[in-house]
Amino acid sequence: MLRSRIVGTGHYLPEKVLTNFDLEHMMETTDEWIRQRTGIFQRHVAADDEFVSDLASHAAKRALADSGVDANEIDFIICATLTPDFLMPSAACLIQDKIGARNAGACDLSAACSGFVYALQMADALIRAGVHQTILIIGAEEMTARLDWTKRDTAVLFGDGAGAVIVRGEEGERGVLTTYVGSDGSAADILSIPVGGSRYVLTPENINELDRGIRMNGRELYKRAVVAFEEATVRALEGARISAADLALFIPHQANKRIIESAAERIGLEREKIFLNLDRVANTSAASIPIALDQARAEGRVKDNDLVLFAAFGAGLTWASAVVRW
Ligand SMILES: CC(C)(COP(=O)(O)OP(=O)(O)OC[C@H]1O[C@@H](n2cnc3c(N)ncnc32)[C@H](O)[C@@H]1OP(=O)(O)O)[C@@H](O)C(=O)NCCC(=O)NCCS
Repeated sequence: MLRSRIVGTGHYLPEKVLTNFDLEHMMETTDEWIRQRTGIFQRHVAADDEFVSDLASHAAKRALADSGVDANEIDFIICATLTPDFLMPSAACLIQDKIGARNAGACDLSAACSGFVYALQMADALIRAGVHQTILIIGAEEMTARLDWTKRDTAVLFGDGAGAVIVRGEEGERGVLTTYVGSDGSAADILSIPVGGSRYVLTPENINELDRGIRMNGRELYKRAVVAFEEATVRALEGARISAADLALFIPHQANKRIIESAAERIGLEREKIFLNLDRVANTSAASIPIALDQARAEGRVKDNDLVLFAAFGAGLTWASAVVRW
């Protein structure tokens, strides 16, 4: 059976790190508050001359090296991001050039924090339909470009980074077993970056009035995230016809430790099987799962034939999940 197998992973985190203690000097917050409510301790922040396509290209080159695949063998590049370098052209096209993938189509995918898993579903469908053989998926974000460091409700939550995977069509039992996606646009205003699109265009007159950052109703989002996350994990297990006991590892979108643990509890998954890195990298949106996957592999927590669950939720609202046999 033709399956889409992840044959290489890579990630990149910018050098600069801001801890919760650093934030205590920048806004009215405390390490204790942040850690208790979210589980986050520090986040990486891109340099002034480092942009999403740079972070993504570093991660992509590492995934290529890990896989042994040549850049010219890539048929298609999907970059999941909500913070591309430009509105146009796509970050994926800039990445195509930076990594020298001369035979690839390239486009961005906008599904916020669920973007990587959405991209995995699309890549899997394109591969199994015989359209493409080798696809590069990247989740890359420069969330801090959209943060106002005086707004403690959002500034403490996010970080920058990129993760990449090479997905290839191969005969056998290993690879993507199932994917699931969901959305609810009626809750669009709970988490948004409203300014900079076609509705609120920046002009010299309004540039100082319009808030260009992230708007979030944290409490409402928390409630909905718990439901969406649980739904995503349950659907993935059903789709793969497995139970939580069969899983070797759960790699969730790293937004909030409490939300992750409540979803794991719902499916009866032991805490030891959850991979958490949000204390070190915070919420990197679409980049969070591929960064965590690469780190989990480096720590020896993903072995051949292991069943691994991915699940994410984010703005849209969107949510998504997948089960992969490694
Ligand atoms: C953001 C979140 C941690 C806030 O936790 P909460 O328990 O809901 O906290 P609230 O928003 O109700 O705020 C409680 C108090 O803490 C204050 N507060 C908010 N941010 C703070 C911060 N960084 N430091 C200290 N105090 C803070 C609030 O002003 C409020 O004070 P008040 O009671 O005097 O008004 C939580 O709602 C959450 O995790 N939501 C989901 C966010 C998320 O995952 N976003 C990304 C999705 S991909």
